[in-house]
Amino acid sequence: MCGIVGYWGAKQASDVLVGGLRRLEYRGYDSAGVAVLTGGALHIRREVGKLQALADGLGRAPLEGSVGIGHTRWATHGRPTTYNAHPHTDASGRLVVVHNGIIENYMALKEKLQAAGHVFQSDTDSEVLAHLVGSCYGGDLPAAVRHALQQVEGTYAAAFLHQDHPDTIVGVRHGAPLVAGVGEQESFLASDVSALLDHTRSVVYLDDGNLVQIGPEGVRVSDLADNALPLEVHRVDWNPAAAEKAGFEHFMLKEIHEQPASLTNTLGGRLDQAANRIHLGDQRLTEDTLRGIRRVVVVACGTAYYAGLVGKYVLEELARLPVEVDVASEFRYRRPVLDPETLVIAISQSGETADTLAALREAKRLGCPTLGVINAIGSTMGREVDAVLALQSGPEISVASTKAYTSMVAAMLVLGVHLGQVRTTLSDADAAGLIRDLKHLPALVTKTLEMAPKVRALAEAFALSQNFLFLGRGINYPTALEGALKLKEISYIHAEAYAAGEMKHGPIALINEAMPVLAIATRSATYDKMVSNIQEARSRKGSAMGTVIAVATEGDIQIAHHVDRVLFVPDCPELLSPIINAIPLQLLAYDIARILGKDIDQPRNLAKSVTVE
Ligand code: F6R
Repeated sequence: MCGIVGYWGAKQASDVLVGGLRRLEYRGYDSAGVAVLTGGALHIRREVGKLQALADGLGRAPLEGSVGIGHTRWATHGRPTTYNAHPHTDASGRLVVVHNGIIENYMALKEKLQAAGHVFQSDTDSEVLAHLVGSCYGGDLPAAVRHALQQVEGTYAAAFLHQDHPDTIVGVRHGAPLVAGVGEQESFLASDVSALLDHTRSVVYLDDGNLVQIGPEGVRVSDLADNALPLEVHRVDWNPAAAEKAGFEHFMLKEIHEQPASLTNTLGGRLDQAANRIHLGDQRLTEDTLRGIRRVVVVACGTAYYAGLVGKYVLEELARLPVEVDVASEFRYRRPVLDPETLVIAISQSGETADTLAALREAKRLGCPTLGVINAIGSTMGREVDAVLALQSGPEISVASTKAYTSMVAAMLVLGVHLGQVRTTLSDADAAGLIRDLKHLPALVTKTLEMAPKVRALAEAFALSQNFLFLGRGINYPTALEGALKLKEISYIHAEAYAAGEMKHGPIALINEAMPVLAIATRSATYDKMVSNIQEARSRKGSAMGTVIAVATEGDIQIAHHVDRVLFVPDCPELLSPIINAIPLQLLAYDIARILGKDIDQPRNLAKSVTVE
């Protein structure tokens, strides 16, 4: 997730751009850049690291000019380096682009352009857009953009500026956010309204398939066939901080609701239905290496560890490989038995967690091939692993992880299908079914989020409970662990999770009327066992059972006979169910913490990135 700003007007463009980018820094910031039209020519400045580095550079050597585009980058394709930072230029050097999103067919486009003599300066998919539009340019920038986009697959928001067209900045939106701002003799483009609020409160929300031009005539919106569209200008009353949260009360809630988009990004470009193949996106992990693997060890902490536990079920099922999952802080102080035929997977949102990093280094020392399932690919872990499976879920601001968790699980599913195919443990027909299911996943998550009001009502009823027990089985045992962690870390309510079959070996003694039990009982191979476990607990003589709440599959009319409350989620294949089932648990934790008035985005004693032991 990157940030885009564009400016046409009379002010110093670089000031407006940097000011706007500062508001968008929450979208990611491993590098930043601006291009400004100065004396009829484009001048570009790019810096790695925080935006301040760019601002300092512009302070030392200002760029004069009142038209420009700017970008903060959160690396997805290519590491955070100056040459990968935006803006990118076309072959002529007269056209620049800033881009947010993923060009899924960028490799094919790049090869075609290279064959035609184009030379690329970066590893990004975005540079392909610049060259492609440049190659379509015949004197009319909007026409060139329209023409080029016919060849582009993926999600994007982008802004283009050509030095021969100082009067027009062109923006396009397809699956990534872009808004236009209307001012007095000036207009703006931005990834979201927070970047505009210092200058204007009049905003045009763009839709997918819109092309927008800003310039002396103000804002013009058209479709890709150049039919002008009516301009709907909205008045925004948010303050900039609320705007960063897109109107949500907390980042956690925003991130929960972002999951259809974050999962689309994680899966983007990886599911090739036509060829019935998975593209992991990092050529360094070759099929030969994967075929040579005899065992997998996953190292991670906290929520990422639970994603690893789901990964164990997935990889064992699809790739028939033995998988061990270790809490990284334990792994590093054991003498783990590892060899070069063991693939070690480090899962981490931040890529900076000290324990996971130490475990990874130990694995490397022992000669294991390593794979990072990482969100911040420019992080230390991202640089040290042999190959990266980038989550591409955008920066996560809330300390309690939500969208990164579901992306981690989705990434493990993608890896599982790929490994299964490479190792021929998964039939082509089953792979095709899973690829189809994964394509449908973001839409299913959107549908699941519709249950939010029901979860809120449940939270009202249980917010004052002192204890909570979460039960799950099979691939949803980790879901129970993750649900309990979410609740305890933001509401400070004591919550435990057990594999439901373990209850009778001790924990069942805990149960009394004050202990709500949340049982994950969605359609699965162990559904009947789960129902028996619920019944076992309820039929204890002499001990009243607390309320049992089930997360169950829509259409399951039986479940109501066994439990007191039900949260229904959409039906889905069992392998995908940890993603769907996590959503009501995320919402429940959020709603209870909100009712209790807790500091949701920054819970006590916790930090987003745990870089110490
Ligand atoms: C819980 C949470 C933590 C992290 C853990 C690992 O909501 O966010 O448990 O999952 O600290 O962090 P990363 O994924 O950055 O390695």
